[in-house]
Amino acid sequence: MLCLGIETSCDETAAAVVRDGAEILSNIVASQLDLHAEYGGVVPELACRRHVQLIDRIVQRALEQSRISLDQIDLISVVQGPGLIGALLIGVNFVKGLAWGRGLPLVPVNHIEAHVYGCFMSNPRMELPAIGLVASGGHTSLFLMDNLGQYRRLGETTDDAVGESFDKVASLLGLPYMGGPHVEKLALKGDPNAIPFPRGLSKKKTYNFSYSGLKTAVLYHVKGYGKKRRDPDRISQKERADVAASFQEAALEVLVEKSLRAAGEFGAKTVAVGGGVAANLRLRDLFRERAAKVGIAVFFPAKELCTDNAAMVAGLGHWLYAQDPASATYDFDAIANMDFFQ
Ligand code: KG4
Ligand code: ZN
Repeated sequence: MLCLGIETSCDETAAAVVRDGAEILSNIVASQLDLHAEYGGVVPELACRRHVQLIDRIVQRALEQSRISLDQIDLISVVQGPGLIGALLIGVNFVKGLAWGRGLPLVPVNHIEAHVYGCFMSNPRMELPAIGLVASGGHTSLFLMDNLGQYRRLGETTDDAVGESFDKVASLLGLPYMGGPHVEKLALKGDPNAIPFPRGLSKKKTYNFSYSGLKTAVLYHVKGYGKKRRDPDRISQKERADVAASFQEAALEVLVEKSLRAAGEFGAKTVAVGGGVAANLRLRDLFRERAAKVGIAVFFPAKELCTDNAAMVAGLGHWLYAQDPASATYDFDAIANMDFFQ
């Protein structure tokens, strides 16, 4: 079965064709980094206008690259939420027209669940139950996965998402938007133990996360305060690298520590990581080092399935439809703050 997936929840216009929920025939992502770079973050109206301009061309390219014609598509899948409401509406309404016009079933999916499914697409033999961790620019969610489609909420960020804190720290250090990969690169030249930045909520029993304290600590460290105020542009390259490395270590250690603690408590032998931050190689190393000690296997998506993409959307759409054809409907709306656990 051939599924066309579409993702427009934030600042990527993406379309993909996936066969039988697993074989990626095309995965086209038009990033809007250039558009939002000068603002240091996503400007919703600009994102929406760009989605409108691009969506039909991106779908066309996904079909061309997969050498599949629209007539051969059996199913369409789209992100219903969570995300920017205007951006979601563009994808949802585009596919409603397309699916209706072609008489095709249409499956709405949750963006966070699609990130988890991305991890399964790359690791189809992953054992369950697993602890799921989605770490992205909009979400930091920890949950127990008894099965695909069955999730129990364990914790979430109480303020900023971990990816967002990478973006803010990048901007503070004068690095380009989107900051995560740039912080990771700069951190390679720094000492992760140079500055003891706080590990948000790490001493608490909770599985929730907090990144605002870490972000503020980095801000004060870089800019100083009171009489010690200083110009961040004038700190040395070595110190910038130390800030990046020490921040990254603090941000990532909490993810690893809480995921592995949850695996122990709930008897999960595996951890499935998804979302943009899952692309970070230091996160992968930290997980592997610490998980090996407690006999837990940790799985990550292939790099192209970490950050926002439509292959994970097509994959999940196919899986949901195979479970229950009644999951296909035209009767749904985009939901900005869609809950993944309902
Ligand atoms: O999953 P994603 O593409 O979008 C959301 O659903 O939010 O994640 C984007 C986020 C950004 O905050 C970005 O800085 C972060 O993921 N990110 C990274 C890396 N690559 C992307 N953070 C740390 N290290 C990376 N290599
Ligand atoms: Zn995402």
